[in-house]
Amino acid sequence: MVKINESYLKLKAGYLFPEIARRVNAFVTENPDAPIIKLGIGDVTEPLPDACLDAMAAAVKEMGDRATFKGYGPEQGYAWLREKIAAQDFQARGCQIDASEIFVSDGAKCDTGNILDIFGKDNTIAVTDPVYPVYVDTNVMAGHTGEADESGKYGGLTYIPITADNEFTAQIPTEKVDLIYLCFPNNPTGATASKEQLQAWVDYAKTNGSIIFFDAAYEAFITDDSLPHSIYELDGAKDCAIEFRSFSKNAGFTGTRCAFTVVPKTLTVKTSSGEEVQLWKLWNRRQSTKFNGVSYIVQRGAEAVYSEAGQAQIKELISFYLENAAIIRKELESVGFDVFGGVNAPYVWVKTPEGLTSWDFFDKLLINCNVVGTPGSGFGAAGEGYFRISAFNSRENVLEAMKRITTAFK
Ligand code: MLT
Repeated sequence: MVKINESYLKLKAGYLFPEIARRVNAFVTENPDAPIIKLGIGDVTEPLPDACLDAMAAAVKEMGDRATFKGYGPEQGYAWLREKIAAQDFQARGCQIDASEIFVSDGAKCDTGNILDIFGKDNTIAVTDPVYPVYVDTNVMAGHTGEADESGKYGGLTYIPITADNEFTAQIPTEKVDLIYLCFPNNPTGATASKEQLQAWVDYAKTNGSIIFFDAAYEAFITDDSLPHSIYELDGAKDCAIEFRSFSKNAGFTGTRCAFTVVPKTLTVKTSSGEEVQLWKLWNRRQSTKFNGVSYIVQRGAEAVYSEAGQAQIKELISFYLENAAIIRKELESVGFDVFGGVNAPYVWVKTPEGLTSWDFFDKLLINCNVVGTPGSGFGAAGEGYFRISAFNSRENVLEAMKRITTAFK
């Protein structure tokens, strides 16, 4: 008899963003003329930087000529891209990351899920609450959790609340956990972690033999020079952390697809028989077997991010979205909302007004303002009573959405 992976049956409802899309589509079917503005999923709206477009156009030409045509590339990514990433994203910040420790991929979402392939089933796992749902759902799928309770919390996971009460900082757990997911600048709260806070996590991981999965997909939005962009800026992190990065949010590659994961060669774990194993070797083996690399054309586009023109153009894009975030913060504050984040991150985390639940506020915004956001409770039980507004949209749409909300809630 065929057996399915019954862990999938433990998953709550749909994945958050398709569930939002389903509700919005139902509303639009009944109200086809509603001028919907989407500030929900963190999907970029502005065109790709010219430097990336030019590089990809040149790469397309190369693919059309027998002399320069490329077939399969290295599963880990082309050396010319890995070297630029290592030099500019890490070595320039004093992090001794080598190009061979960079694995180019088609997305940080895929990598944060796929990384579980190289870990055993019996690890204790900690996530923040609220949290990017992929970290939780991929552990459910892999059979690492028990059932969910009515608040959506899965048995077997350690949840670390990040709330206004602790200024959205992730407190170190008192118990020992093996795998820890951290995301800074944070999705969904837009909060950041200081060097001291991250150093405390690294020290905890080293003391307890834990591994930190550090999602830095939003590092380019850091405006405060004192904040770390990479976990490898902290002492000892190369012995206990894997970092995930993406070109989606800094260079607008959500539809183009390119990201990378850093697995330092110094990161080792002991087997049950006491043998020291390099995680780099396992991830390299995993990628070589299950992945054929990112397309040559897209990697040339990603490489252009590191050119002088590319750097200037992505800075402009990021400033544009951060200005949107500042507008959202200012407008919502002007009518009395409590707002967080949105300064070093493209997400503004809002306390729902009038004691509304996150989904009630979602419905109210959709019906009364035709604006779509993301209910905080979709990111975890501690997100209840909060709402995430994304700054990824055109200026015109952001201004219009804020006009509608401030009129409805003044
Ligand atoms: C989000 O809205 O949280 C992100 O767009 C999701 C993602 O990057 O996969």
